[in-house]
Amino acid sequence: MNPSTPNNAQAPGWLLRCIETGQTYPGDRVRYRADTGALVEVVLDLDGIDPAKFRDACNRRRALRGQTRSSGVWRYRELMIPVADELIVTRFEGNTPLYRSESLSAWTGVRDLAVKHEGHNPTGSFKDRGMTTGVTAARMLGQRCVACASTGNTSASMASYAATAGMSAVVFVPAGGVAAGKLAQARLFGAHIVQISGNFDDAMRLVEEVCAAFDVYLLNSINPFRIEGQKAIGIELVQDLGWRPPDWIALPGGNLGNSSALYKGLSELRRVGVIDRLPRIAVIQAAGAAPLHAGYLERFAGGPRVVADPQTIASAIRIGAPASWGKCVAGITATDGVVASVTDTEIIEAKRHVDASGIGAESASCASVAGCKQLVAAGVIKPGESVVCVLTGNILKDAEASAERLAAHLGEPEQPVCEPTLADVSEQLKIILDKGPA
Ligand code: F0G
Repeated sequence: MNPSTPNNAQAPGWLLRCIETGQTYPGDRVRYRADTGALVEVVLDLDGIDPAKFRDACNRRRALRGQTRSSGVWRYRELMIPVADELIVTRFEGNTPLYRSESLSAWTGVRDLAVKHEGHNPTGSFKDRGMTTGVTAARMLGQRCVACASTGNTSASMASYAATAGMSAVVFVPAGGVAAGKLAQARLFGAHIVQISGNFDDAMRLVEEVCAAFDVYLLNSINPFRIEGQKAIGIELVQDLGWRPPDWIALPGGNLGNSSALYKGLSELRRVGVIDRLPRIAVIQAAGAAPLHAGYLERFAGGPRVVADPQTIASAIRIGAPASWGKCVAGITATDGVVASVTDTEIIEAKRHVDASGIGAESASCASVAGCKQLVAAGVIKPGESVVCVLTGNILKDAEASAERLAAHLGEPEQPVCEPTLADVSEQLKIILDKGPA
């Protein structure tokens, strides 16, 4: 714990609370864990928020452009830590599209299916929602250097927001375990990259030690302020649906920050009276990296599970020891949620359909759609229920890996290089026109 001087003069309007014992701590000090080692969460004063006024204000702010309040996070300022506008580090994140696709509905078997595309965020992934609040907290706490462990997207996002705020950034990544485009983003935004000979879980353990030893602020999702912005994902999708919650929300699970945040946002919406029931949360893991699924099968008895050598094509969720286990389990339990695991073949199949629908997303994202289809087939999700699948990252995020794997999976030959003559491309054109759309 490195105590530091907070930058805001007034006492903050929030506390940090241990998710296990309920012990509270001041909100304006650097702290990621309670003294027991359990995670802490931000507790806000939500009394006196009028649900109708809140909905109206958020609808009005949504129409704004280029202002802090138009951000898909800070728009929900009544549910965010009350910080002065000057301290806020925003790239107007959020405001992502909610798509509908007949072909995806038909493929998954859900008539009322929508996909919330978080790949439309400024750095191409859902991480930007949590990073605007995380880096704002860093500034509020007087921090100058931020760090994270990452499978790629967190590092790209943190690097961008740190650059926006004029802070140094250090990212710890598993060597060879991160898609090239994500690493390039982090580097181009000016972050220092430390490659670790190990996996994400090793990098995660290390960065906590680093932040305890040096004056460096940790911005993985164990940081309670990351969860505060990230929770806007559920709030915004409920707003997209005219403030009516869907029956289910499916999302991929890795380190489990996103699913924890989703639950926090939804439960605060219900607590304030904006919605009157909680959607059921379906967390989908890759079969080779599915400790939460293993725990779910045993009703989470015996505490967190660990997969020692996690493996999946979806490198973003190649995680064996999720840090936000406790928060995520609380959300699954409270929403009567489920956990599923999908094989790499199911992920690739889902990606093929998501891409062919014209929407497109990175492989890890498509676990949500694969899981949705599997849960419908198993009779868990009923065809008449409404489902929102979260697509967490942009199609360009792991382009090489997924294109190669997809081609191999489909048994496609390598693309020939043509001479720039009509004669040479004619053969190919005939085949393409014969084949029709994917
Ligand atoms: N989808 C994508 C595209 C991700 O990058 C991640 C996590 C997840 C899903 C899982 O979310 O960890 O909150 O359960 N990426 C992290 C990173 C670990 O470092 O970019 P989670």
